[in-house]
Amino acid sequence: MKTLIPSEITPVQLQTVMQTAVSPRPIALASTVDKDGNSNLSPFSFFNMFSTVPPILVFSPSRRVRDNTIKHTLENVLEVPEVVIGTVNFPIVQQISLASTEYEEGVNEFIKSGLTMKDAEIIKPKLIEECPVNFECKVLEVKYLGDQGGAGNLVICEVLKIHIREEYLDENGNLDQAKLDMVARLGSNWYSRNKADNLFEVPKPLVTKGIGFDLLPDEIKFSRIFTGNDLGMLANVEILPAGNYHSDENVHLEAQKLLLESKIEEAWKILIY
Ligand SMILES: Cc1cc2nc3c(=O)[nH]c(=O)nc-3n(C[C@H](O)[C@H](O)[C@H](O)COP(=O)(O)O)c2cc1C
Repeated sequence: MKTLIPSEITPVQLQTVMQTAVSPRPIALASTVDKDGNSNLSPFSFFNMFSTVPPILVFSPSRRVRDNTIKHTLENVLEVPEVVIGTVNFPIVQQISLASTEYEEGVNEFIKSGLTMKDAEIIKPKLIEECPVNFECKVLEVKYLGDQGGAGNLVICEVLKIHIREEYLDENGNLDQAKLDMVARLGSNWYSRNKADNLFEVPKPLVTKGIGFDLLPDEIKFSRIFTGNDLGMLANVEILPAGNYHSDENVHLEAQKLLLESKIEEAWKILIY
């Protein structure tokens, strides 16, 4: 096991290891204005939702590791505490990357990136027309995490209004995960793409309680065939199927094939005699 103490490596090494390990991260495209109403647009992957009621999003424009300067987005939300957060999917990934270019103050990255400004309904910053979802937000608080290069600044935002592009809705009017084709940021220059054929479901209905690993029979728990994921599925049944349990590895291989197709009940059936 390799271990690292943050204070014993450089900020750049720390940034690389943390961003590679804490991945994938969703991307916020933040649209802000300065006190004169000039627009700014920048992507941030230190971003997530943290509360549903109230609806809270948080993103973090950090102090630059390079020279400890702060970003225009941070200056803007301190001047005008409002932000539109657009979500980022594959069709706009190259444009949001372009918007991250460090242009001089006052340069409008909407124009540089070719993304389209649209008036918001409640706040001054512009909506980003191409984003699948736009959140109009007021900034509740900016929490500084330090004064050195690399220090984050949490911009805590409350969502006031949500705009969803119709093409990403299913027939019931709900957001369709498969249609969205979301992208996420990983370490270095890597991104990941969540298109329909990459998605999978892990059923975990709130009403049921899986038996857990500890109640799996030893013949199965200590099999050399089953992976942690296989055992996780087998331990997710509510009642341990009764009978004698095969320790034959060929039977385990057959059961594993069924588990690959999420056929848990059928896998249990062949594991019992
Ligand atoms: C996908 C992506 C994610 C990024 N995430 C962050 C982030 O979370 N925090 C940050 O400080 N910079 C992040 N950056 C870099 C900023 O977008 C970049 O510094 C930007 O130019 C800041 O613009 P501004 O000075 O106009 O606010 C990211 C860049 C990209 C391409």
